[in-house]
Amino acid sequence: MANNAFFQNHYISIDQITSTKMINYLFFAADKMKSNVEKGKVYEPLKGKTVAILFYQPSTRTFTSFVAAARRLGAYTVAIHGMAEYSSVAKGESLEDTIRSIYQTTGADAIVIRHPENNSSQVAASVSPIPVINAGSGTLEHPTQALLDLYTIYQQFGRLNKLNVVMVGDLLYGRTIKSLAKLLALTDKSTTITFVSPDELKAPRELVQELAKKVKLFETGKLEGALEQADVVYMTRVQKEWFEKAGKLDEYERLKEKFVLTRHLVSKMKKQAIVMHPLPRVGEILREVDDDPRQRYFPQMRSGLYVRMALLNSILVK
Ligand code: NCD
Repeated sequence: MANNAFFQNHYISIDQITSTKMINYLFFAADKMKSNVEKGKVYEPLKGKTVAILFYQPSTRTFTSFVAAARRLGAYTVAIHGMAEYSSVAKGESLEDTIRSIYQTTGADAIVIRHPENNSSQVAASVSPIPVINAGSGTLEHPTQALLDLYTIYQQFGRLNKLNVVMVGDLLYGRTIKSLAKLLALTDKSTTITFVSPDELKAPRELVQELAKKVKLFETGKLEGALEQADVVYMTRVQKEWFEKAGKLDEYERLKEKFVLTRHLVSKMKKQAIVMHPLPRVGEILREVDDDPRQRYFPQMRSGLYVRMALLNSILVK
C-alpha cells in the first residue's frame, strides 16, 4: 500500500492523524499483524533495528505491548520502566539530555516515551534525531491508545460511521478519552459522542468546543439513558494520582464511585453494544460484568499489540 504518512515521523499527538486514509493504512497493517500473530507466522521486518522504550509513569499494557510489538517484529529493545526513579533524572538530568543520551548509548532507531508532563513528547522530539512515539503524556494525550481503541471498535462493528459512543468517568484528568474522541470526530460526522461525568470531572471546555463543531456531542451527569442508546460504553477510572498532586484526595474519595457499571446497568444496553475500558479498573466496572457478552475490555488490550506493531513498522519501514 502506498502513501505511508508515518514513515520516519514522530507520533506525538492524535492531531497528527489528519485523514481517514491514515487510519485505513494503519488498520490494514494491523490486520496483517493480527493474522501473522494468530498463525504463529514469524515476520521480522525490523531485524537490525533498535527501539528504546522509556517509561516515567506506571504501566502494564502499554509497556508490555510496545516491548512485545518491537520484539515480535525482530527489533532489539532497550526497555526501561523506572526512568523517574532509576535513571539520571533522579539526579536532576533534563529530559532533553536524557533523550540525547539514549540515542547515543543505544543507537536506537525510535524512542517510545511515557511521561507525566503534557509537553514531554514534544520536548523529546525537539532534540531527537529519530522518531519519538508518545505512549501517554500528562492528562491530554494517549495517541496510540486511541488507535487501538478505534481498531477494537472497527473490529466489532466493521464500520466507523453512525456510531454512538458514551464516555464515562474522569474526563478531566483522563487522557485516553480525549485522544479517542478526537479520532472519532475525524472519522465520521454522523458519530454521536456523549460525555458522562460528575460536574467536577467534566472534559476541558476547549475539547468540548472543538468536538461540537465536528460531531453530535452531549454532556450529562446521568449514565442511565445514555447507556441505552450506546453502541460503545467506554468506562474510565477516576485518576487518583492527579488528585493527589493537587492535594485533593478528599474530592477523589467523594467522586471515585460516582459511576459504577454493574450487570444490571449493562443489561439495559443494546445486545450488539460493547463495554470498553483502557484499564486499569479500580472499581468502576464490577467483576460481575466480565462474563457479559458485551465485555470487550480484555480483548481490547490485544488490539494494542497489533496496532503498535503496525505503527512501529510503518514508522521504521517505508
Ligand atoms: C491509561 C493511561 O495510562 O492513560 N492506561 C493505559 O494506557 N491503558 C488509563 C489510566 O491510567 O487510567
